[in-house]
Amino acid sequence: MSTEREETQEYINGMRPGPLTREIPECMRDKYTIVQTILDVIAFWILLSGYIITGIYRAIMGYPKKELKDSIAVVTGGGGGLGSLVALRLARLGCTVVLWDINKQGLEDTVKLVKGIGGKCHGYVVDLASREDIYRVAKTVHEEVGRVSLLINNAGVVSGQYLLDTPDHLIQRTFDVNVLAHFWTVKAFLPHMIEHNNGHIVTIASMAGHVGVAKLVDYCSSKSAACGFDEALRLELEVRGIKGVHTSLICPYFIRSTGMFEEVNSRFVPQLNSNEVADRIVFAIRTNESLAVMPGYFRLLLPFKWLVPWPCVSEIIRRLVPDAAPAPIASHRPQLTDDLVPTSHKGKLDSRPMTLVPPARHDRHV
Ligand SMILES: NC(=O)c1ccc[n+]([C@@H]2O[C@H](COP(=O)([O-])OP(=O)(O)OC[C@H]3O[C@@H](n4cnc5c(N)ncnc54)[C@H](O)[C@@H]3O)[C@@H](O)[C@H]2O)c1
Ligand SMILES: *[C@@H]1O[C@H](CO)[C@@H](O)[C@H](O)[C@H]1NC(C)=O
Repeated sequence: MSTEREETQEYINGMRPGPLTREIPECMRDKYTIVQTILDVIAFWILLSGYIITGIYRAIMGYPKKELKDSIAVVTGGGGGLGSLVALRLARLGCTVVLWDINKQGLEDTVKLVKGIGGKCHGYVVDLASREDIYRVAKTVHEEVGRVSLLINNAGVVSGQYLLDTPDHLIQRTFDVNVLAHFWTVKAFLPHMIEHNNGHIVTIASMAGHVGVAKLVDYCSSKSAACGFDEALRLELEVRGIKGVHTSLICPYFIRSTGMFEEVNSRFVPQLNSNEVADRIVFAIRTNESLAVMPGYFRLLLPFKWLVPWPCVSEIIRRLVPDAAPAPIASHRPQLTDDLVPTSHKGKLDSRPMTLVPPARHDRHV
């Protein structure tokens, strides 16, 4: 008697009252007959062939692209790296871009750059590791700029050390920025998207969200969480019948010259060009694409991970990425000067990346 009570109580704490296991009620048994199963399988194959045929047709004839003119886009981590390149492209398409970044200098530079090409651009200093900051600035943006219909969760940090050498606060920060911030930004902007049945949420994750890499234990797990976030959210929107709000998951391999993985060792697969990645992201947005993997052939290689024995997977990853963070992180990066750091964060900002130098000129073509 007492154990049963305890069990029930525990389950109430897990929110749903009732016993832990229960037999399937009589009325639910045998609901799905063999015939129905066969029909479902046939329907699946018909659906799949339909999508393959339209896919081939699109690949040949080109994809219809949605108009982004006059929409308002928030790009987190837009003060440098990939974020600034995406911002430039969106501005060119007529979007009003709202950049969020913790790096005030990078933010100002990027706003200038976007305005320089005739774009509409606003910059806000936000610490994405702070939920209060996110909710506060989201409200300000809504009041000062307008309704956001495109949210690009791009900001990311990496600690780049063996797990046991990684200080706790950096692990915490990696999760705060790389995945928890997505919850808060989505909670801030999704309601208006649903209300107008118009919106798009983009998650910039990484190949590291699908494959584990040494020295990136916190990074990989946070990116893996970001992948799960996108997929579950997309399904949830579909289940709720919200047709006008799309989500896209972007999983690039290492990118050259954004600052994040500058000196990573990568064999066989060349590091990606940041301009090409930015182009790919904008393409995914304009075609409502749910998943973009870069380079594209990784989409075929990934399933092999589940097929071959672990020692083979391990060998491939180790040969592909002999060292994800060869140099100790802090030593070669520009130090944050005190006046760039909001007072509340002084002394806490030692995680990577804090790109103070904007990407090199040659890498900023739109
Ligand atoms: N560079 C790569 O090799 C690579 C590969 C795959 C995925 N990615 C992902 O792409 C995204 C962009 O990466 P990047 O290469 O442009 O990096 P980056 O370091 O050049 O830019 C990241 C931006 O986010 C900002 N940022 C960091 N912490 C913040 C915080 N707490 N609050 C507000 N802003 C913050 C930084 O100031 C910077 O401007 C990241 O999510 C990254 O994980 C990068
Ligand atoms: C993308 O989705 C929007 C909103 O549902 C729709 O209006 C648009 O036609 C779609 N575009 C493409 C290219 O699929």
